[in-house]
Amino acid sequence: MNNQVVKDVSSVKDRFTLAGKQAIVTGAKGGIGKATATSFAELGANVAIVDLPAFIEESKVVAAEIANRYGVKTIAVGCDVTKEEDIKNMVKAVSDAFGTIDVVHSNAGIFVGNDHNNMPVEEFKKIIDINLTGMFMVNKECANLMIEHGHGGSIINTVSMSGTIINSTRLEKDYMVAYTASKGGAKHLTKGMAVNLIKHGIRVNSISPGYLISGAHKFMDQIEVDYWANSVPIKRFGDMDEITGIVCLLASDLGSYFVGSDILMDGGACIC
Ligand SMILES: NC(=O)c1ccc[n+]([C@@H]2O[C@H](COP(=O)([O-])OP(=O)(O)OC[C@H]3O[C@@H](n4cnc5c(N)ncnc54)[C@H](O)[C@@H]3O)[C@@H](O)[C@H]2O)c1
Repeated sequence: MNNQVVKDVSSVKDRFTLAGKQAIVTGAKGGIGKATATSFAELGANVAIVDLPAFIEESKVVAAEIANRYGVKTIAVGCDVTKEEDIKNMVKAVSDAFGTIDVVHSNAGIFVGNDHNNMPVEEFKKIIDINLTGMFMVNKECANLMIEHGHGGSIINTVSMSGTIINSTRLEKDYMVAYTASKGGAKHLTKGMAVNLIKHGIRVNSISPGYLISGAHKFMDQIEVDYWANSVPIKRFGDMDEITGIVCLLASDLGSYFVGSDILMDGGACIC
């Protein structure tokens, strides 16, 4: 005998909401970030559209579109995630505008097509700086604000199936080194953050997409797109509608038992 009580199940719809939440999405003028920022707003959150300062005008357009569509508050903030000062200023700007931060999709990242063991070290460092160190700094600053405000939260990091497998990107068949290292690191960063932050009620998890048509594949020609689509068991790329659900799940109370999980969503690419 023990004191455990089996609860009645509650409404899935009631738990799948972000009403009254304040959210940040980095890389939010890009494909995946714009999609999740839009979906957060549809679920009721106010959303900060965060991207490189050079893209502030594009970010303002995304922010205005989302505010018009869903009637939530949005702001656009220029922030280079490789710069700690930019991140501190961004967190302060969002906190000033919305009062606090509950949900963070740390999604800014770069992808390089021709990435192999002979790449210049400066290029390697740049990829690590954005995809891993930048993610660490965004996680840290946002978590510190959540701790200060004492209400917990949810941080979702965009990793990649390249954090699970070493894949190649181009038909020449180079296997990726820097990108896969950055994403493998981000997956483990997520778990380390998760185990430390859960005592503050902050859940940190990651998503690992496979090939999604996000706009980041414009450098590929049709032969390559067809080749990579055919290499996946589902025989096609995924799209933005297929990624938003898992990010919203992790952001909302529906995902309240996810801690340090990495959700692989790859059309079966990592099976074989
Ligand atoms: N599309 C895919 O197939 C795929 C698959 C797996 C993982 N991912 C990951 O998803 C994330 C989003 O990629 P996407 O496909 O939407 O690509 P994208 O190029 O459309 O978006 C990336 C965004 O990040 C921003 N960014 C780049 N460097 C930045 C910096 N230093 N500071 C702030 N913002 C910066 C860019 O301006 C851009 O808006 C990336 O982390 C990428 O590695 C994408």
